[in-house]
Amino acid sequence: MDVYGLIGNPVGHSLSPPMHEAGYEALGLDARYVTFEPPADAGAEAIEAAETLGVDGLNVTIPFKQDVLDAVDPAPLAERIGAVNTVDFTGGTPTGYNTDAVGAVRALDHHDVSLSGTAVVVGAGGAGRAVAFGLADEGLSVRIANRTESKADALADEVPDASGHGLDSLSDLLANADILVNCTSVGMEEDKTPVPADALHSDLAVLDAVYTPIETRLLQDAAAAGATTVDGAWMLLYQGVEAFERWTGEDAPVDRMDGRLREHL
Ligand code: ATR
Repeated sequence: MDVYGLIGNPVGHSLSPPMHEAGYEALGLDARYVTFEPPADAGAEAIEAAETLGVDGLNVTIPFKQDVLDAVDPAPLAERIGAVNTVDFTGGTPTGYNTDAVGAVRALDHHDVSLSGTAVVVGAGGAGRAVAFGLADEGLSVRIANRTESKADALADEVPDASGHGLDSLSDLLANADILVNCTSVGMEEDKTPVPADALHSDLAVLDAVYTPIETRLLQDAAAAGATTVDGAWMLLYQGVEAFERWTGEDAPVDRMDGRLREHL
């Protein structure tokens, strides 16, 4: 039996076990996905322990995404982002990936959003960092807007073809943008949005990384403006799909994983 899982602290609320196990069931794989909650300072030790025990793959969430970097051989994108959310043990040495970045790209691609032009990323925390690098890797020009403008500027210095801004620039930035991704926590369990509704337009594709609620105020405003909308469950799904495919070497049964994920939202 193959063993995959998640390390985080806390991990109790995770939607990853049902999503991945739906994939194993659909493909008839003899595999399980389990959650582990190591002490908050023991991320690197947890990776070593998992390797010793013969675990095949781990997802990594808060607070371990940066700490495990030193315990793995990071892929170039994960190294540049400075965070790992997926470890693959199947090739000998543990390899670290950041599938949050690819997850955003694949979520947009699934909705036939053209991955070209200019993207506005709102937020410069962990999620904003991953998405900014992921979109830049696809060749997009990235505009990073953050409440704390200095953090946007610092991130933009690291990301190719990027610039940093405050939230007060959002309307100007969006006028010439093709893609908008919300990577702040604004909208999570509250009817708020970080983006003025009148800045949204029908030539935009809007991805919200927030998935509680699934229809955020931002996505409702975007739909009203005629924009293409992509909810946060797609990003969650595709970071998992990407990990699933790296671990198993199989094409993930995306529809089955999506169906199970949405049952649990
Ligand atoms: P994550 O790992 O989910 O990205 P994070 O690293 O804590 O979480 O980052 C949270 C992001 O949401 C940051 O960009 C933060 O802006 P600051 O850098 O200015 O703190 C943004 N954020 C959180 N609350 C916000 C609010 N009320 N208005 C605007 N931005 C907010």
